[in-house]
Amino acid sequence: MTVETPEQLLSLRKIGRIVAQTIQLMGRHIQPGVTTLELDAIGRQYLESQGARSAPELIYQFPGATCISVNHEVAHGVPGNRRIQPGDLVNIDVSAELDGYFADSGHSFLVGPVSDVKRAVTRTAQKALNRAIATVRAGSPLNAIGRAIETTAQKAGCSIILNLGSHGVGTALHEEPFFIPPYFDAADTRVLEEGMVITIEPFISNGAWDAAQAEDGWTLYTAPHFVTAQYEHSMVVTRTGVTLLTAA
Ligand code: CO
Ligand code: CO
Repeated sequence: MTVETPEQLLSLRKIGRIVAQTIQLMGRHIQPGVTTLELDAIGRQYLESQGARSAPELIYQFPGATCISVNHEVAHGVPGNRRIQPGDLVNIDVSAELDGYFADSGHSFLVGPVSDVKRAVTRTAQKALNRAIATVRAGSPLNAIGRAIETTAQKAGCSIILNLGSHGVGTALHEEPFFIPPYFDAADTRVLEEGMVITIEPFISNGAWDAAQAEDGWTLYTAPHFVTAQYEHSMVVTRTGVTLLTAA
């Protein structure tokens, strides 16, 4: 969507804050022994307490309020009886709706002590998100986002999950532009306009380039020797940069 009124911006900020707070709260409960279903229940309860609804549940009938993906799981991990272990890389992705407005955010957590590889992909994913956000302003080329992600990954010796992109958000969970590539596409001439609402979400790995769907019909995963980290924010494009909607 493109924000046209202060009321729309206020509604987006409201759901953005709820999503950010949900991830923070769930993150505080990540510890060895806790199950992903228990973490999901904490997220669900908080969303409900704020009057918000889980977007993946609402739109895709996802079997959980939030997506929790561990180690070689990349995204859309289904909450279940898996217990978090020391050394795990845990990605929590929360998207939710309030009054018809949507926000979407993700954060990767390390359960210490973790391997250097997990530390590296996590740090690189965070850096890639920050550098990509720094390219954004009204009039900037959309493909600068992918260029920043690609350059950051390359410098760190990391791979990018190429089939997962960033996207428009706001009055739906996924809307125009539906796929913002996580790599530089010179042929992509799209330009960002003031008020556009988008996510940026790089998926950075130690060698995997794409994610496959598991037999559960939801979980996206790679071979077991790869790990992937993701960070995601929802934001509004402004004349000078962005208004982050899901900052903690
Ligand atoms: Co997300
Ligand atoms: Co997203």
